[in-house]
Amino acid sequence: MHVAITGGYGLVGRALQQQLRQAGHTVSIITRHPRSEQDIPWNPEESFLPIERLASVEVVFHLAGENIASGRWNAATQARIRDSRVRGTQLISSTVAQLGSAPALICASAIGYYGDRGDAWLDEAAGPGEGFLADVCRQWEQAAEPARLAGLRVVHMRIGVVLAIEGGALAKMLLPFRLGLGGRIGSGRQYWSWIELSDLAAMMVFVMEHAELSGPVNAVAPQPVTNQEFTRTLARVLRRPAFLPMPAWAARLALGKMADELLLASTRVSPAKIRAAGYAFRFEQLEPALRHVLGRPAPAE
Ligand SMILES: NC(=O)c1ccc[n+]([C@@H]2O[C@H](COP(=O)([O-])OP(=O)(O)OC[C@H]3O[C@@H](n4cnc5c(N)ncnc54)[C@H](OP(=O)(O)O)[C@@H]3O)[C@@H](O)[C@H]2O)c1
Repeated sequence: MHVAITGGYGLVGRALQQQLRQAGHTVSIITRHPRSEQDIPWNPEESFLPIERLASVEVVFHLAGENIASGRWNAATQARIRDSRVRGTQLISSTVAQLGSAPALICASAIGYYGDRGDAWLDEAAGPGEGFLADVCRQWEQAAEPARLAGLRVVHMRIGVVLAIEGGALAKMLLPFRLGLGGRIGSGRQYWSWIELSDLAAMMVFVMEHAELSGPVNAVAPQPVTNQEFTRTLARVLRRPAFLPMPAWAARLALGKMADELLLASTRVSPAKIRAAGYAFRFEQLEPALRHVLGRPAPAE
């Protein structure tokens, strides 16, 4: 298949590219900074995307968006986080809607859609939560309306905390944990729904190959854990102590509003739809996933 990916040079995009190429698909990257003749340039801020370059595309993965954790949230960063997603999705969806090839459009979204929901299990039928990220995710998903109205298959993958060594939340946590300065954040009772990077990429390929899947699809492992369990497991895998809890106020002092929505919010998400479709997870449990990502095999019995 000819597959195009926005954000294809990002953390998730690189893992997805690799799996698609290994499976024999032709991949084109849609990027603001083309690196080769094969790359397709675009600029969502200026509504620029050359439609003729997409003529033979059968599937579009849309992953691009301003990184949500690259700096403290203020009015300007929040506007960039929201606008890059909403404008980018409007541009890609209205463009593919005009293509005769009627490609499938598989978009990134995030479990931030559900907001802070305590211990409740959240499958795809759960409604949106409250807060900045929940609002962004709702608007981001709605922005694909032009493609849906044109009758295309549109999927919104509500992605959990991606576990990878190359970037994302885990990479940021490693230094304090390696120094023995890690610990639970806040009460530690908040649920974190996670997914290992190569599992996420495999799930995306599965979604591409299963035309019966459309609408929201939770992209998380089946066993979310509390932050307490997450930090204890990470410390065990790294063979370091995790004695130093970070109180909620300290997280807020360090990260501002972002702390409440990214670290202290509890979101216990179930991958109900992808399970029912028959996807076989590579990593269902946290410890083997962390051991794989961090290259730390389990000690021999
Ligand atoms: N990583 C996670 O834990 C996680 C969790 C939930 C959801 N997600 C979502 O999954 C998607 C991919 O995540 P990722 O971690 O791979 O992201 P990433 O590494 O930050 O990469 C995203 C790509 O988006 C493009 N981009 C960045 N800022 C942009 C802007 N202002 N306007 C337009 N494009 C911009 C860049 O591509 P170019 O420079 O090539 O244009 C970048 O490579 C994102 O939408 C993210 O919100 C990720």
